[in-house]
Order: sequence, then C-alpha cells, then structure tokens
Amino acid sequence: MSTPTGPRIPRHLAVIMDGNGRWAQQRRRPRVIGHRAGTRAVNQCIDFCIEQGIEALTLFAFSSENWGRPQDEVGALMKLFMNALDREVAELDRRGVRIRFIGERGRFNEQIRQRMDAAERLTQGNSRLNLAIAASYGGRQDIAAAARGLAEDVAAGRLQPAEIDERLFASRVALADLPPPDLFIRTGGDFRISNFLLWQLAYTELWFTETLWPDLDAATLRCALEDYASRERRFGLTGAQRPDSDASGAAFPPDETSA
Ligand code: FPP
Repeated sequence: MSTPTGPRIPRHLAVIMDGNGRWAQQRRRPRVIGHRAGTRAVNQCIDFCIEQGIEALTLFAFSSENWGRPQDEVGALMKLFMNALDREVAELDRRGVRIRFIGERGRFNEQIRQRMDAAERLTQGNSRLNLAIAASYGGRQDIAAAARGLAEDVAAGRLQPAEIDERLFASRVALADLPPPDLFIRTGGDFRISNFLLWQLAYTELWFTETLWPDLDAATLRCALEDYASRERRFGLTGAQRPDSDASGAAFPPDETSA
C-alpha cells in the first residue's frame, strides 16, 4: 500500500472516457463505431492498472444524462454493455478483478441487470483490482441518495441530526469502502467533471488529455502517472505539514478515508 506522503502510484484511478463519438466522426463512421473502439480502450486501461498495481479503477461508462441521447445510440450502447458483460466477465474474474456497478441499476433492462448482478456475485471475492463501472450514474444523484438515506434514519429515530458529519456522509455515497480517487483522468479535451463522483473527487488530482478515448494507450496513461507522481498533495494543509517534512506534526491526509 502506498503511503500518503509519496503516493507515486495512485491507489484509485477515476476516468471519464470521452471522445468516442468524435473518434468515429473523424473517420466518417457512425458514433457507435467509436463506442465499440472504446471497449478496446477499456481493456487496455484495465490491463495497465493491473500491471501498475493500481488498486481501484472507476470508469464513467454512462451518465444519468446519457439516457437523453438519440434512441439508436442508447440502444447501441446497451447492446455493447450486454456483449461486454457476456464476453469479458469470466476473463476479468480469472485475472482477479472484482467488478461492481454504481448508479441507477433499475433503469437498465432485466437482461442487463441480471448480468450486472451475476458479474458482481462471481467476482466479489477478488482483490487484485477493484473495478467500478459507473452506469446511469450521476454525482448529484449519488449525493441526494445519501442525504435521503440519512433523512430516513433521522425520521425513523435511528440517527440524531447532530451525528451527521462528513465521515458519516462519506459512508453513504458510492464507493464508500474504497479510498477516494487519487487521480482523475478525462480524455477528449474537455475540462469538466460532468457530474462524475462529485463528493469523492474533493481532493483528487485532475489530469486532462486531448487524446480521444479509443486512442488511449499505455504511453498516455504513463504520462498521467508521471505527472501525478510529480505533484505535491497538501489536502488543504501547508507543504511544511507533510509527514515527509521536518516540521510535520499533522495527521495526513487530514480526513481522507485513504489516510
Ligand atoms: C463518451 O464519449 C463515452 C460514452 C458516453 C460511452 C462510454 C462507453 C464505452 C467506452 C464503451 C463501453 C464501456 C464499457 C465499460 C463496456 P462521447 O460519445 O461523448 O464522445 P464525443 O464527446 O466525442 O461525442
């Protein structure tokens, strides 16, 4: 496990896989061809994380807003998810990957939901890489669901409002059992978080690249990791308070579950 002072390798990588549509358009092909090429990049990214010893990878595959895309694109994406679930899960299991899905599972059709459940059951004992696929996920919806759960506990008398603090709240959002993402990567050239893990990204290092998702390769990912390794993470404190500094006396990082 890396120490908070010198996390040369991120423990948890969160990725927005953007640029599939433009990749296809550049080739005068339908957008779905870009999504198909994107599934190959997903495999590359998983391979890279396993090789580097990254503990957790969270991929934004489909946002709660993506349901509003043209029907044929949504249908094609659903077909791709189905095929990927049928094709890849056994091999990921063999490689020690634990798979989970975060987001509103109820919005997917029965066939996809069953495959999601089965993939989670099959791989739940694995620990080489924690792979989370955000599907019909939205960061605001995640926070709202956590708030609703706490409100229900208060209404039922199980919880006092004064007991609600950051730590308790953090235990109710998605991926609560994982350290928060250390590094966020977005491909495709836009500088946005797009309603991804809003709570969880509070102190995450952000890295953006023009590379379109289907063009992702190990060299690009290595660039991101090198940049990450060169950064000083302070979590709101001063550089002198870092444990690798002589002047340090502070708990570090101050209130991250990865501490
Ligand atoms: C964003 O590119 C990408 C998506 C909305 C879908 C991501 C899906 C995949 C990478 C394939 C399947 C994934 C899994 C986990 C099996 P965009 O369409 O917004 O691209 P654009 O910005 O160029 O239009």
